[in-house]
Amino acid sequence: MGHSLRAAALLAFLVLSVLVSLLITSLQQFGSGSSRFSNATVEKELGALRRALDLQLRERRKEILPLLLPNDDDDDDEKDGVLKEVQPSPELDQNSVLDSSLWNEVTLGSGKAHRDHMGCESLMDVRGAEVLGSGYTKVVVKANLVGGEPVALKLVNEQGVDMSKCVEDFKDPRGCRELVSYKLRKEMLLLQRLRHPNVIKLMGHCSGVVGGGGREGGRVAVILEQGTPLQMIQLLQTPWEDRFRVCLDLVRLLHFLSWSPLGPVGLLDFQPRQFVTVSGQLKLTDLDDVSAEDAACWADADCTLQFPHRNFTLPCSPRGVCEGLNEKRNIYNAYRFFFTYLLPHQAPPGLTHLVDQIMNSTGELKADINQTLEAFEHILLLYKSGLHLDKLHPSILRDYTVMQDMSTSGNVEYRCWPSYSQQGCVLSVHSAREAAYICNSHPQCNSFTLTGQKTWSGRLLASFRSSFGHLVPSGASELYVKNPKVPQPPPPS
Ligand SMILES: Nc1ncnc2c1ncn2[C@@H]1O[C@H](COP(=O)(O)OP(=O)(O)OP(=O)(O)O)[C@@H](O)[C@H]1O
Ligand SMILES: *[C@@H]1O[C@H](CO)[C@@H](O)[C@H](O)[C@H]1NC(C)=O
Ligand SMILES: *[C@@H]1O[C@H](CO)[C@@H](O)[C@H](O)[C@H]1NC(C)=O
Ligand SMILES: *[C@@H]1O[C@H](CO)[C@@H](O)[C@H](O)[C@H]1NC(C)=O
Ligand SMILES: *[C@@H]1O[C@H](CO)[C@@H](O)[C@H](O)[C@H]1NC(C)=O
Repeated sequence: MGHSLRAAALLAFLVLSVLVSLLITSLQQFGSGSSRFSNATVEKELGALRRALDLQLRERRKEILPLLLPNDDDDDDEKDGVLKEVQPSPELDQNSVLDSSLWNEVTLGSGKAHRDHMGCESLMDVRGAEVLGSGYTKVVVKANLVGGEPVALKLVNEQGVDMSKCVEDFKDPRGCRELVSYKLRKEMLLLQRLRHPNVIKLMGHCSGVVGGGGREGGRVAVILEQGTPLQMIQLLQTPWEDRFRVCLDLVRLLHFLSWSPLGPVGLLDFQPRQFVTVSGQLKLTDLDDVSAEDAACWADADCTLQFPHRNFTLPCSPRGVCEGLNEKRNIYNAYRFFFTYLLPHQAPPGLTHLVDQIMNSTGELKADINQTLEAFEHILLLYKSGLHLDKLHPSILRDYTVMQDMSTSGNVEYRCWPSYSQQGCVLSVHSAREAAYICNSHPQCNSFTLTGQKTWSGRLLASFRSSFGHLVPSGASELYVKNPKVPQPPPPS
């Protein structure tokens, strides 16, 4: 990573100097009138720009090569390991015998080695598509498969910062489109290698026409399952259970990434906007900026993680690697972008000490990802089994009359927070006992119904109300009505 950063900085400098000299020569041309000489100079400079762009293209290509899957139908020579060994060679070029078939597959998007077989033909008309989201590099639009299933299409963002900066630097829209699309190809390959419930599902890809314009070589669209961009502000207003789910999903993802088949994967650009949810489940969607190995080092000082309010230094291992650097960077980013906002607020009373422990061990990088995942799964277990509620006395239900298969109509609702319903007070509970406890703590509450619906964790949805008009039969739901207070007999006189 350090190498490519340095290379990028060097290149940026090179490009800048070329641009400055270009400017100078064009000014000279303006004054001198010696157009023949200037024409040649300009051409020379344009050539230099082209070479600089080619250099970048080669760099991006080298980044991608180790991610290519070995092709089952091809010679055994082209196995993963061999590719990895050959990959660092500076002699790599388009004509290299090593991988031209694999390379074409990625460039042309016609791979038989790909597990995703969906191509352009599986897409319905996507003209006038609605934009789901966009960033510096990519834009994501809604589309439908021929069968009607909604999907997301990820394309190079022609209006994005990446593209416009490249065109400004190299004056070559076609070359730049190719350069930027390498990020998309890299992401596609990573999505292929890193399949997990908390990584967005790659459904296929397609080269050519999509998104307007003629059939231009190498244009690629990646077909993904459709998600909803993560809205932190909205998430802050949801019940703790849902916020916990996002954090748990994130930890499961980070555990997978730490032990991934590619090595310990670090997310270098870790932000909530790199994630979407699909039916409430968190999924990583932006994978173009990752590192699949821990940084090399000479001394501990090379293994420093810098954050705005905190720095950490890891030991440099005897074999010259900052072991665990990617994992620790991921954990701290999860702590600062997700846990601090989502986890402590309104945690169930019986679980707060465990939540506090997680906040401390991740905020101080004291626990590794295995321990962190264990702590999260432990909380989930307690929460699902209601073990954190052991202080609720069974007698609490004696104040209520239960009616099976009954519901109510003509309800007088009241609002509570954070309710699953806008109109009334709907909360998740472990049992009727917990619901009775909640009803007792709401002065307005006189009855509640266990609706038979469940949340993602299997907890029951309970609907609380002040009063109701009449009973209605309703399978699968249970009605609990508070017993009228028995008036105290007057004291004997
Ligand atoms: N499968 C999907 N379903 C719905 N929306 C998505 C999907 N994938 C991505 N998005 C949205 O599109 C946005 C842009 O995608 P992505 O993050 O891959 O582009 P990018 O250019 O790399 O962004 P950035 O500049 O943040 O790095 C995301 O922030 C997300 O909101
Ligand atoms: C300047 O270069 C262009 C090609 O870039 C060429 O067509 C033109 O003839 C050249 N003009 C002169 C005066 O050499
Ligand atoms: C982290 O390290 C940087 C660079 O050494 C330093 O400038 C910064 O003040 C440090 N921040 C904290 C919070 O220690
Ligand atoms: C963790 O706990 C220690 C000791 O109580 C405290 O000093 C520290 O600030 C805590 N750190 C975080 C990140 O909560
Ligand atoms: C962490 O979990 C991974 C994957 O489950 C396992 O292979 C590894 O041995 C564990 N490491 C430790 C230190 O427990």
